[in-house]
Amino acid sequence: MRESYVILEKIKADPYSATLEELTVLLKENDEEFNEYLFQTADEVRREYVGDEVHIRALIEFSNYCRRDCKYCGLRRSNRKLRRYRMKPEEIVQRARMAAEMGARTIVLQSGEDLTFTAETIADMIKEMKKFDVAVTLSLGERDYREYKLWKDSGADRYLMRHETANPELYRKLHPDSRFEERLKCLKILRELGYEVGAGSIVGLPGQTAWDMAMDLIFTRDMDCDMVGIGPFIPHPDTPLAHEKPGDFIMCLKMVALTRILIPDSNIPATTAMGTIKPGGREITLQCGANVIMPNLTPTPYRALYQLYPGKICVFESDVRCLPCVKMMIERLNRKVGTTYGNRVKKKAA
Ligand code: 5AD
Ligand code: FES
Repeated sequence: MRESYVILEKIKADPYSATLEELTVLLKENDEEFNEYLFQTADEVRREYVGDEVHIRALIEFSNYCRRDCKYCGLRRSNRKLRRYRMKPEEIVQRARMAAEMGARTIVLQSGEDLTFTAETIADMIKEMKKFDVAVTLSLGERDYREYKLWKDSGADRYLMRHETANPELYRKLHPDSRFEERLKCLKILRELGYEVGAGSIVGLPGQTAWDMAMDLIFTRDMDCDMVGIGPFIPHPDTPLAHEKPGDFIMCLKMVALTRILIPDSNIPATTAMGTIKPGGREITLQCGANVIMPNLTPTPYRALYQLYPGKICVFESDVRCLPCVKMMIERLNRKVGTTYGNRVKKKAA
């Protein structure tokens, strides 16, 4: 336990000195007092590097069709029970306009890997949305260089694509139709094209060890990710992992806190999954290193159908409620609602 404090001080002073072994020790440490100290440290680092602003990213989940078959995900193509939907491009742009009018400075377009949305269709939506004075983030999965380039040239600012797990063997088991190397290739292309890039992992996947999670931390650090999304595994009843146990909330918080310490100036969301496995989970996450929140702007009736995992919060809320709700949340926490696009501002160690 003494050892954990020593490691923490060392990696806080020099994030690139952190080794897999050291991070594994910290993740396995279950002394409550140490964990509290870790959370408090991450909260201080967050304040020092990115301040008290919480950036709001309005999320539009515009299609739940997916060509992939990820074992954990409710949108997987083998899930025949799910009713599928696609919003119309006009409807998506209209929703983005509304989010901008409500004060959102970033729009996130997310979907399953739905190739019926051609690169050109997406590009046209980006151009329309850029008229609303917003940053545009895409989260559309794996596509090729030409498509990523077209979207960047059309004005897209950021791309979110979690690496899910940095253990290639575990990745293979969970993703029957894709490979970790392919994911990595996409992330590298996105970076090369000048996107702000977000990766991140699922915590508590079946078969995942503390060592694997330490690999996730090292992976996002070494990529110098601009954004890192982390959340617990939540078993979906209509997937092969239905009967596995969910990820642990405290372990997720430790992953968030350590990510903040390893990449102090990154943008880290308090994810919806954190709010789903624990009431008030997003609020707690915002006080353990996170500085971003992603209110759901997906219109009814589609929002209930975007079932990555069961029990997702906000599904039964009015579809205009989440944005004002997260603003109130930020104020309750004595933080400030971000007024800028909330790009990453690279900072040298203080
Ligand atoms: N539990 C937790 N996270 C999940 N995701 C998909 N399915 C689940 C699940 N069952 C996450 C993946 C994906 C993101 C959009 O949602 O990390 O990248
Ligand atoms: Fe959706 Fe609070 S964020 S209701």
